[in-house]
Amino acid sequence: MTGNVSAPARTQVAIVGAGPAGLLLSHLLNLAGIESVVLESRSRADVEATLRAGVLEQGTVDLLIESGVGERMLLEGSLHHGIEFRFGGRGHRIPLSELTDGRAIMLYAQHEVIKDLIHARLAAGGTIVFDARNVTIHDFDSAKPRIRFEHDERVHELRSDFIAGCDGYHGVCRPSVPPAARQEFARAYPFGWFGILVNARPYSPELIYAYHERGFSLVSTRSHEVQRLYFQCDPHDSVDNWPDERIWAELAARLETDDGWELKQGPIFQKGIIAMRSFVLEPMQFGTLFLAGDAAHIVPPTGAKGLNLAVADVRVLSDAFIEYYATGRRDGLEHYSATALERVWAAEHFSWWMTSMLHRYDDRDPFQQRLQFAQLNQVASSHAFQTALAENYVGLPIRRRALAEKLKRRSGAKTRREFGAGIA
Ligand code: FAD
Ligand code: PHB
Repeated sequence: MTGNVSAPARTQVAIVGAGPAGLLLSHLLNLAGIESVVLESRSRADVEATLRAGVLEQGTVDLLIESGVGERMLLEGSLHHGIEFRFGGRGHRIPLSELTDGRAIMLYAQHEVIKDLIHARLAAGGTIVFDARNVTIHDFDSAKPRIRFEHDERVHELRSDFIAGCDGYHGVCRPSVPPAARQEFARAYPFGWFGILVNARPYSPELIYAYHERGFSLVSTRSHEVQRLYFQCDPHDSVDNWPDERIWAELAARLETDDGWELKQGPIFQKGIIAMRSFVLEPMQFGTLFLAGDAAHIVPPTGAKGLNLAVADVRVLSDAFIEYYATGRRDGLEHYSATALERVWAAEHFSWWMTSMLHRYDDRDPFQQRLQFAQLNQVASSHAFQTALAENYVGLPIRRRALAEKLKRRSGAKTRREFGAGIA
């Protein structure tokens, strides 16, 4: 069992998946005195090395700080107050903070959030079972759900009051629900994103979302030394078709401006192609199984919403568990799916809208293309459009029941500074 004690046979909340959703849920439950065990199919090293999201909404940042895992993010992350839309050879700044009462986004890599959460869980004596193989979930239509899994060449059974399925899009929890009890909504996009990591100084003080007739591109960042760039590609393309020179030429063409903005090349040390899809499962609860994060929904990355949605689910779900264990009331648990889905669909709409506006669609006729340009021009020039975009981008408010207050009461009224003191 990597890094911790062997799994108990029973816990209050059994969590499948040590991604942002599973780890944060376990962390928040622990602060409220609720036991959990996290089962993860991959090794700790793999989980900590998986490079994915980079943009944290204001609400995500606040929760990480509030719950004591924000120290390193505050030191190493970079706060952004705007983004740039670039098209027709010109940049148009969307002043996120001005438009949203001072709210902002934080650029801090997902795998760094993961490291901070694993550190916090293990430091608090929590159990994360890495390398848990052949996880299967059982009896979640009853009050006595069970999980079977293999670890260290033995079969284990974990009993619990609830199961939280936080095992991502390819996990086992969602497919375990009988098909008749679930409804799925899906859309595949006819393009993917080619993503690269480059050793270079930041190309721009703020993210650049660029539309060009050759296709979309995005300039993002990871740190002062590492930059993250993406460009729209054929989802079936292969990285082998893209030597470095071809990548730089494509990005230079798509990001070109009339005033001669230059993209300096640097050593590319990672390349990959990401599929783009929208997906929602309804409902997000079945008996004593609660799904959260990518296990229940996927958005195309254009709105930078996936990780933030996972965090928002977990906020609502942890509140519901805290209420249940503190009072015996099931209201929060019963409303979890409906509450979470309201936000999920708002994010689905925003992500679809951003994707539709910023990508090249080969099957769009001239009429549809003109509509797309009209939309881009409106966002570049209208305060009202920019405000709507900014509100969604920095994150809509989460409907929840005073989690901070409950955490405070249950954890002996620790202050923000005391919560943060455990992080190296
Ligand atoms: P995951 O991160 O997928 O975690 C699930 C975990 O469960 C994994 O560790 C997996 O190994 C484990 N697991 C799977 N199956 C099993 C099993 N059978 N048994 C046990 N464990 C299992 N989102 C944003 O908010 N902002 C961004 O800027 C952004 N950019 C992105 C860029 C890219 C290139 C990609 C691919 C995604 C991006 N996202 C972004 C989306 C974000 O990364 C995901 O939405 C987020 O990881 C979801 O977290 P999760 O915990 O629900 O699932
Ligand atoms: C990233 O930095 O990986 C990133 C940024 C913004 C997005 C998607 C991904 O919309």
